[in-house]
Amino acid sequence: MITWYGHACFKVDNVLIDPFVPNPLCNLPYDEIMEGVDVIAVTHGHADHLGNTEELAKTYDVPVVTNHEISVYLSERGVNAEGMNIGGTIEINGAKLTMVKAEHSSDISPTISGGVASGFIINDRVYHAGDTGLFGDMELIGEIYAPQIALLPIGGRYTMGIDEALVAIELIYSEIVIPMHYNTFPLIEVDVNEFVKKAEALGVEVVVPKIGEPLNL
Ligand code: NI
Ligand code: MN
Repeated sequence: MITWYGHACFKVDNVLIDPFVPNPLCNLPYDEIMEGVDVIAVTHGHADHLGNTEELAKTYDVPVVTNHEISVYLSERGVNAEGMNIGGTIEINGAKLTMVKAEHSSDISPTISGGVASGFIINDRVYHAGDTGLFGDMELIGEIYAPQIALLPIGGRYTMGIDEALVAIELIYSEIVIPMHYNTFPLIEVDVNEFVKKAEALGVEVVVPKIGEPLNL
């Protein structure tokens, strides 16, 4: 099951990724968002991804999987955090997470480094690209992990825009693509229908989820 909570926040099976909730697209109650969540995964340190991780992890007593630097930061604040780095895999609470490369930054604040930004392969089938520009090694990610579903940023400015995401689709070669990281703020407004049309022309199935509505994927 995959549920979108706006921006880059998704629940994939029992993993909640990048819990920037509430956000301008999603104001659902925490109890609903955290239902069935056994792990929180965080791709990088920016506030629109690290979001309310600390509060959610403590309130619902779930571990956080993230890069080494952010895990140290969270541990110092009393969160049960498991650190890892790009190329590694962790199996925890019935979830399998592999951390993969992203081309982006990751500072938590101007004075606190958040290590290096990442994406995740979740349960061997879903690729959450995190915040990233286009990079050629997406082809390797597609080849090695063969994800059935790719969650790709399309909002531009801070990440790939539509044109770059269309190239990413051809590199990753997943069956299904779900766009993310767009229309949350005016700076990342795009016409998602343009993306859907152009991506479908490449032969992939594109799903634009409704906020909070679980998809049987
Ligand atoms: Ni970011
Ligand atoms: Mn972001």
